[in-house]
Parts: sequence; structure tokens; C-alpha cells
Amino acid sequence: MVEIELKPEEFALFRRYIYDKVGIALSEQKSTLVKGRLNKRLNQLGLHSFRAYYDYLIVEESGEELALFINAISTNVTSFFREGAQWKWLETYLPALIASKREKKIRIWSAGCSSGEEPYTILMFLQHHLSDFEQWDIKILATDISAKVLAKAIAGNYDAKQVESLSKEILHRAFDKVKTQDGLTYQIAPHLREKVLFRLYNLVTDPFIFKNKFDMVFCRNVMIYFDDTTRHELIGRFSTVLPKGAPLFLGSSESLTTHRETLKLLGSSIYQRL
Ligand SMILES: C[S@@+](CC[C@H](N)C(=O)[O-])C[C@H]1O[C@@H](n2cnc3c(N)ncnc32)[C@H](O)[C@@H]1O
Repeated sequence: MVEIELKPEEFALFRRYIYDKVGIALSEQKSTLVKGRLNKRLNQLGLHSFRAYYDYLIVEESGEELALFINAISTNVTSFFREGAQWKWLETYLPALIASKREKKIRIWSAGCSSGEEPYTILMFLQHHLSDFEQWDIKILATDISAKVLAKAIAGNYDAKQVESLSKEILHRAFDKVKTQDGLTYQIAPHLREKVLFRLYNLVTDPFIFKNKFDMVFCRNVMIYFDDTTRHELIGRFSTVLPKGAPLFLGSSESLTTHRETLKLLGSSIYQRL
């Protein structure tokens, strides 16, 4: 592999572009990280300079190169039932939500859903806790900026390691075991998969146009790389799609110091719309 240098003026171009596009503020120190992580990609594309890669990145229309860039400098690590304390809290909240419903209809947004573990966990949770689960009209909107992770999420295939922490009951009710060339795969059962609408969506630049509000929003471990201004604006926009009393779930390392007038901390990075 050819080692390609990243000049300061080239790094400045990436910094501006990434900030405008996804709200990630790359500090000067991230130059080495960008160079190190993107070198392989430049080689794969047969490009000889970061300037050439920049020109490619800004015209690549699918947005997948942008997602690839973001994934190179951040992470899309996820898992089933991540942030255990939040699911415990949800157990206590669910009866009130159910009692407040005139129609058996639940709408949830998993924003930054990565490879699907989060939206599917929401369904596994509801399936486990609602005795009349099948009678409910449940839809999860699951969005991400990366088409690659979304394709994985839509397929809903996970290996034994990824499902090892799940109980036998959940494994039995939520998955079909499928034999593949690589061994045994656990695939999310069709009746659960059909309840999730996966969409490519950039939280920073795409408009929030939704017909109805959501019963809850999950945006966990997505904003860690955003700067304060971007985070502030995004949280403000989440408030507009939540009815009074509804929870917003953030990642455990993401706490809010703003929006106190609209969002109240309930614990474990769970905020309630006031
Ligand atoms: C670390 S994963 C978190 C997955 C899941 N929410 C969880 O907590 O396990 C972060 C995801 O956010 C997505 N992401 C990053 N910036 C985004 C943006 N501007 N719009 C939409 N998704 C974004 C990434 O592609 C990645 O899949």
C-alpha cells in the first residue's frame, strides 16, 4: 500500500465539508487519524492524493462515500439490548404508555440505527412485555446515514456471537435459524422485520417532515462526534417530534446541559419531553 500524505490545506477542506454535511467538528489533531484511516480507501480507489479523494467525495451522489468517511473516523458499533438500564426503565414506563392509548398504535424512531440491533431490540422488548403484541399496530422508523449498515439491518442476519447474550425465549420468538455457507445465522423473523421501516437519512441536513409524532425517540451514541451547536439544534428538532411526556433516549455518555425548558432528565440518559 502506498502511503499518501495529507497536507494541511487538504485537511482543512475535509474539516469544512464534514462539518457542513454531518456536524462533526474535526480538531487539528484528527489530521493523523484521517490520514491513517483513509489511506487504505485512497489506495482502493486508485487515487494518489487526498485532494483527488476530496473531489471524489463531494460529487459521489449516493452519499455512501460520505458514510464510509464518517465510519472511518467514528464507529457504528452497536448491540442488542445496549444500555441495559434504559430497558429496565422502559419496563416501568410501558404500562403508562399503554394505558394512555386510545388506539393500539405505537410509533418509535430509532435515529442512527446502525445495523439494526436497536430497532429490533425495541420490537423484542415490546413482544416480551405486551401479551397482546400481535394486536398492536407497531411501526419503528429506523434511519441511518450509511446505506451499508442499513443493508445489513434490512437483511436482519446476525451470527451466534451477536445473539449470545439473548435469552432462549427471545431467540426462539424473534429469530429464525438459517443455515448458510458460513454456518448458522440467526435471522429476525419476518413478522418483526415487517414492522421496521429502514430509511437512509442524514440527521443533520435532512428535514424533519413527519405526519405524526413519535411515542419515543432513540438517538443513542450518534451525537458523540457532533459539536455543541449541531447537537443543540438536533435535540431541539427531536423535541418537535415528541408529544408531552414522551421519552428521548440518548447514549449513556451523552448528557444534555441545554434544553432544560423542554426536556427533563429522568435518569440513565433518558429525557422526558415537557
Ligand atoms: C455508534 S452507532 C450507534 C447505533 C445505535 N444507536 C446504538 O446506540 O447502538 C452510530 C450510528 O450513527 C450513524 N450516524 C452518524 N452520523 C449520522 C448522521 N449525521 N445522520 C444519521 N446517522 C448518523 C452512523 O452511521 C452509525 O451507524
